[in-house]
Amino acid sequence: MTATPSSAPPTADLLARLADLLGPSGILTETSDVAPYCTDWRSLYHGRAAAVLRPASTAELAQAVSLCAAAGVAMVPQGGNTSMVGGATPDESGRDIVVCLSRMNRVRRIDPLDHTMELEAGVTLKAAQDAAREAGLMLPLSISSEGSAQIGGVLATNAGGNNTVRYGNARELVLGLEVVLPDGSVFNGLRRLRKDNTGYALRQLFVGSEGTLGFITSAILQLQPQPRAVEAALCAVAGAGAALALFSAFRAQDPALIQAFEYMSGAGMDLVTRLVPGTSLPLAEPAPAYVLVELATPRRDADLRTVLEDVLAGMFEAGTVSDAVIAESEGQRLALWKLREEHAEAQRRAGASVKNDVSVPVSRVPELIDRASAACAALIPGIRPAPFGHIGDGNIHFNLVQPEGMDPAAFLAQDHRIMDTVAAIVRDLDGSFSAEHGVGRLKPYMMPDWRGGAELATMRRIKDAIDPHGLMNPGTLFPPAG
Ligand code: MLT
Ligand code: ZN
Repeated sequence: MTATPSSAPPTADLLARLADLLGPSGILTETSDVAPYCTDWRSLYHGRAAAVLRPASTAELAQAVSLCAAAGVAMVPQGGNTSMVGGATPDESGRDIVVCLSRMNRVRRIDPLDHTMELEAGVTLKAAQDAAREAGLMLPLSISSEGSAQIGGVLATNAGGNNTVRYGNARELVLGLEVVLPDGSVFNGLRRLRKDNTGYALRQLFVGSEGTLGFITSAILQLQPQPRAVEAALCAVAGAGAALALFSAFRAQDPALIQAFEYMSGAGMDLVTRLVPGTSLPLAEPAPAYVLVELATPRRDADLRTVLEDVLAGMFEAGTVSDAVIAESEGQRLALWKLREEHAEAQRRAGASVKNDVSVPVSRVPELIDRASAACAALIPGIRPAPFGHIGDGNIHFNLVQPEGMDPAAFLAQDHRIMDTVAAIVRDLDGSFSAEHGVGRLKPYMMPDWRGGAELATMRRIKDAIDPHGLMNPGTLFPPAG
């Protein structure tokens, strides 16, 4: 029943009532003001919207949603607009209303004994990390877009990122959630309990729902102690197999020290150092692949540097690592991270690219990279595979940059062929076609094949029960019915 959105265009009367409710800073209707909210950062989607709502509180949002729901108007949530899969862009109809919670940007409370943080959906991930650090704690979630990504979107997409290997995805950090539901009622689950067996864990339904069930307005997150020591190294390796051997060596030493373990291909690193100003390779020669490993601990007595050097020495001897550089200062550590975090931006600058945010069992990453590289080269000669990502948790961004000189539109016209080619290998390796970016508007077509039968049918029943008129982020996650 849902998934065929039958939304109505907002009337002048509805827009006037929303303007009365939200005040002049709470609504944008001029085309030039609305336009920035209608294109995703990858420029894959160019929609239109009748208005952008910017409520200042949960109560304002709840009333606005109930007005829109009564008028049958569809709503699209948008945080930092950093979705990789077009999950926050309105469609081309011009009927949707974009809802942006950037004015709800308060960190309400940090409890040092409970190790929890209560914050509003519009706080950027970076601001949340900074607030936790100032309180002597750590919010262990880190993604390349953390400067602009907002907590609401981070939770609605169950973001993963660089620290999943140790702390899990966003989902694992959520203790409590407040959500405005599609009819304008408010689910207040802002509890900060580690144990709470009182029926369905409703909060987890909204984490990863990509805005299709309601708007997350605030959350209580689990924090961790701040590390007392951090060490990072960039290591040159022959490929993903060697990267995993290195991973095993660190794990054998002490798995609890691994804060991040990231893989980068030589091709991807080459794009970064050529296209992103302020980056350079701090090693004597380029390598086929690289690992960025970060160890961290809150313990007072841990000699992390010795651990790092011992493991690397063993790996040099074994021929697994051919070169490495250890950050000697915070500035050098950040420079190593810049090489990793600019991968998406470098690929954007290199032309059109197709992203495959896939996961496989960690042991199968080398096979994934080998097979998918060969299959894509056979499909489009000259295509440039630039795989990178969170190899420590099995999530590889098997991204492909267009061949030099090819028309970007002609390349993007083949995106389904490329994604399907990679997906077939991922399936064969027992993986998932979306590890941390979600399904968005780019990949619902894959859902019946991957999550069909009882799984997708159950998801549809949940969607129909909570959002019976299909007004929340239509076009996202679900393929059109039938
Ligand atoms: C990242 O980890 O940098 C992003 O999730 C990756 C991407 O560009 O695919
Ligand atoms: Zn990632």
